Amino acid sequence: MKTGLTFDTVALDDAQSALVIIDQTKLPNEEVILHLKTQQEIHEAIYLLKVRGAPAIGVAAAYGVYLAAKEIRTDDYETFALEFAKAAAYLNSARPTAVNLSWALRRMEKIVKESRGLSVPEIKEKLRAEAVEIQEEDIRICRSIGEYGLSLVKPHDGLLTHCNAGQLATSRYGTATAPMYLGHERGYDFHVYADETRPLLQGARLTAYELEKAGIDVTLICDNMASTVMKQGKIQAVFVGCDRVAMNGDAANKIGTSGVAILAKHYGIPFYVCAPSSTIDEKLTNGAQIPIEERNGEEISTMWYKQKMTADGVKTFNPAFDVTDHDLITAIITENGIARAPYTESLPKMLEGTQGH
Ligand code: MRU
Repeated sequence: MKTGLTFDTVALDDAQSALVIIDQTKLPNEEVILHLKTQQEIHEAIYLLKVRGAPAIGVAAAYGVYLAAKEIRTDDYETFALEFAKAAAYLNSARPTAVNLSWALRRMEKIVKESRGLSVPEIKEKLRAEAVEIQEEDIRICRSIGEYGLSLVKPHDGLLTHCNAGQLATSRYGTATAPMYLGHERGYDFHVYADETRPLLQGARLTAYELEKAGIDVTLICDNMASTVMKQGKIQAVFVGCDRVAMNGDAANKIGTSGVAILAKHYGIPFYVCAPSSTIDEKLTNGAQIPIEERNGEEISTMWYKQKMTADGVKTFNPAFDVTDHDLITAIITENGIARAPYTESLPKMLEGTQGH
C-alpha cells in the first residue's frame, strides 16, 4: 500500500544516536527533518506536537528511551535500571492522554526487568530490538485496520475524518486513513472530507496534505461545516483515530470528535473509531477516567493569527481531547477485528493475543 510521503514520520538513526522526525509544526509549508539527540529535545518535540498522534508518540518514546539507555555509562544492572526508569518517567510526562506513550515505555521497561543477569550492552541491544519491533508492529497493525475498515464501506463513498490519524500520526498508513489508502489502491474512488480541527489544524495542515500527496480526493472543511456536508448526503461513513479507549468503549480523541459523533448519529451515518489494541486501556472501565490534556490558551487566541484575536483579559479553555460515548460509536476497528457493542464483551476479545506486552 502506497502513501505519498517521501519521509518517515519517526525513525531511528542508531549511528548518530538520534531520533529522526519530520517537524509536523512546519507542515505543510516546509518539510524540516529534525535529528533529536537529548531527552529534553525528545520530550519537547512530543509536547510541542513536532511528533504527534498516539502511535507515533509511542514509537518516538520507545526510540527515545533506547537512546537514553545508550547514554547510561555503568556496568551495574541496578544503577542501569534506576537511570532507565528515570528516563522513562521523564518521557512519559510529555503528554497525558495517548496511552500509547506509557504503553510503549512499559514494554521497554519490561525488557529491562526481564534482562537481569545480562550484561548492560546486551540489555541495550535488546532495547533497540524491542523499539524496532514496536515500530514494525505499528505498520502491520495499521495495514490490518485498513483491511477491516475497508470492509465496512463501498466504492465512491464519501468519508469524513477529524484531526490527523494518518501516516503522520503513525509509522505508516495511519489508522483512520488506512482504509482510504487501501481503497485508493483498489480503485474505490473515495471522496474524503477532512475537518480542519481547531485549534491546531491537524486536519488542514496534515490530513489534507498527506491525502492530497497520495492522490486521494480530499476536501477540507471547517469544523462547523460537518453538519452541512452530512445533511447534503456527502458522507457515508466517519473514520476517526483515538488516543485511549476505556473498556466500555468510550473513546478519547482530538477535541471535537464527540461533536462529530453526535452529528453522525443524528444523520444516521456510521461512526467508526480506529484503535490499535495498544490504545485500549484495560485499567479503565469508562471514559470519565481518561486524563484529558489541557493546553495553553494561546493556541486558541493567538496562534495562526497575525495578531492576538481576543481582548485582554478574555479567558480561554483549551482541552486537547474529548471522550466520545460508546453508544455513539458504531464499531471500534482494531488490528484483531471489528468490535461492536456491548464493548465490555467485544474489547477483551480484541486484546487477546496482545496481552503481556
Ligand atoms: O494532539 P494530537 O495531534 O497528537 O492528536 C492526535 C489525535 O487525536 C489522533 O486522532 C489520535 O492520536 C490517533 S492517531 C492514529
